Amino acid sequence: MKACITISAIWLLTIRVAEVSAQPQPGTTIGALTPPMGWMTWNYFGERINEEIIKEMANAMVSSGMLKAGYQYIMIDDGWQGGRDNKNNIIPDPVKFPSGIKALADYLHTRGIKIGIYSDAAPLTCAGYTASLNFEEQDAKTFASWGIDYLKYDYCNAPADSITAKIRYKKMADALVNSGRQIVFGICEWGSRMPWHWAANAGGNLWRTTGDVRDKWKTRPGDKGMGILDIVDINAALYEYAAPGRWNDPDMLVVGLHGAKGPSSDLGGVGCSNIEYQSQMSLWSIMAAPLIATNDLRDMNAETKMILMNDEVIAVNQDKLGRQAIRRVNNDTWAIFVKPLDNSDVAIAILNKSGTIQNCQIDFNDLGLTDNYDIRDLWKHTIIGKGKSWGGNVVAHQTKMFRLIKK
Ligand code: GLA
Repeated sequence: MKACITISAIWLLTIRVAEVSAQPQPGTTIGALTPPMGWMTWNYFGERINEEIIKEMANAMVSSGMLKAGYQYIMIDDGWQGGRDNKNNIIPDPVKFPSGIKALADYLHTRGIKIGIYSDAAPLTCAGYTASLNFEEQDAKTFASWGIDYLKYDYCNAPADSITAKIRYKKMADALVNSGRQIVFGICEWGSRMPWHWAANAGGNLWRTTGDVRDKWKTRPGDKGMGILDIVDINAALYEYAAPGRWNDPDMLVVGLHGAKGPSSDLGGVGCSNIEYQSQMSLWSIMAAPLIATNDLRDMNAETKMILMNDEVIAVNQDKLGRQAIRRVNNDTWAIFVKPLDNSDVAIAILNKSGTIQNCQIDFNDLGLTDNYDIRDLWKHTIIGKGKSWGGNVVAHQTKMFRLIKK
């Protein structure tokens, strides 16, 4: 068993750089002051969506307790579009959404749920449906008239360069502002053009940092598609770019999918263990990532509910200071994350990346934390220790998540 060792000379300096750069920047669109939480259609349903499914999901969102736990949005991903009418207004597929999107938005709003929709900065979306290039003003007005609260804006079928991307995203962001409705703007170009450098100035409230998540822990040799750990490896390094209203988005939660058919199970998405799903919830929360579930909310077992609705873990994610955890330790076995919280407590997450149980001994001083703490285990919901250190076993792929309560 290997001990987890935590020493870095540049640690305190790193914290100070992050403190300076994590302030909201001028030009940030107001909205999404904490990471958006919701449920998105894509990973489970793909294009096989319709208004009945969305309504059922809205009812399940309420009855399961997900809405109360903080999951506010239902986001309709690709596949809702039915082309344009004779005035070039974008319209929904009349078979999938016979009552129209406005009626669906009203249904959701009545239940206290916000509604998200999807388009793309090109003539066609990733799945080949009508998209918004050159119709930005018109589509933004249409979305606003329907009562849309969130737009995911993809980048398939668009030129590769970043100058064009910035222009196209800014154009839609401006159109959303001009629409007169506050609509959270999610930029989705998969991190290819390093959007953490420019997306907030282009009007984005969040930006995808990676390719699409698949329902698996890690990519295997010869395999395609990204697993939870592959995504953490990229997103964790981007902590300094996150702040209220501007979030790194490492894609959706795969919690509770268990290898279900749908886009998340292609490219080697074989499903994860509950320990791995619990790790994703911990890691996404401590990275201040949007928490966007994609499992079937109508059919969740007790374990899935326990993972998705852990109020203490969600509180770390939604902490109003809005800092993404700094990955303080990163080697073949361990990743250790530290997230300062608004009330001067600190959240830490200890991930065992290896395939076997490991023993961890941490001196909090080595994490730059010099106070005396009560150590609260956010999965056990109890204080498990006191002082300036913690030691214990972490099973393979498990993430321990603690709140260090300042004394
Ligand atoms: C891209 C996005 C996905 C999803 C699909 C829809 O792959 O990254 O999240 O929106 O398009 O076609």
